[in-house]
Amino acid sequence: MDQQRIERLENSFNLVAPRAQELVDRFYALLFSRYPQVRPMFPDQMGEQKKKLIASLVLVVQNIRTPDKLLDPLTEMGKRHAEYGAVPEHYPIVRDTMLEVLGEIGGDAWTDQLEQDWTAALDLVSTVMIEGAKAATSSV
Ligand code: HEM
Repeated sequence: MDQQRIERLENSFNLVAPRAQELVDRFYALLFSRYPQVRPMFPDQMGEQKKKLIASLVLVVQNIRTPDKLLDPLTEMGKRHAEYGAVPEHYPIVRDTMLEVLGEIGGDAWTDQLEQDWTAALDLVSTVMIEGAKAATSSV
């Protein structure tokens, strides 16, 4: 990931971070309205889940300059997600829902460039998580 992309990711995240609660509220509302089939995978009470999602986004952005540090936590997170029933096909759904909500919150500050930057970042996160899940489930 080049330096400019990293800076755009950091700056744009700082812009939406004060509205993190709104971001996650809207994210799950949109996810569950578009893809009601995933609702039963999540707990009834979503408060803790929302906090954890924010924390994971913060973790990713804070370590984006040293991505090696993200490998272990994201691999472990991917393994846990396999246990929750997440499959690779779910990841683009989550990515696109997150992109849409970032766009809503970003308003005029949200650009095509940022859409591409966040797509790349979320795809990277997804790839590591899916690899982690594969490693966990492939026996022999
Ligand atoms: C960018 C990708 C994703 C990120 C950053 C993310 C982040 C998180 C985090 C931080 C948690 C808290 C628990 C833990 O750390 O294990 C969590 C839980 C969960 N995630 Fe994800 N997630 C992602 C993708 C997905 C996908 C694709 C699905 C599939 C529908 C999914 C479904 C779930 C479920 C069902 C739980 C809650 C399980 C429970 O508490 O019983 N996530 N996610």
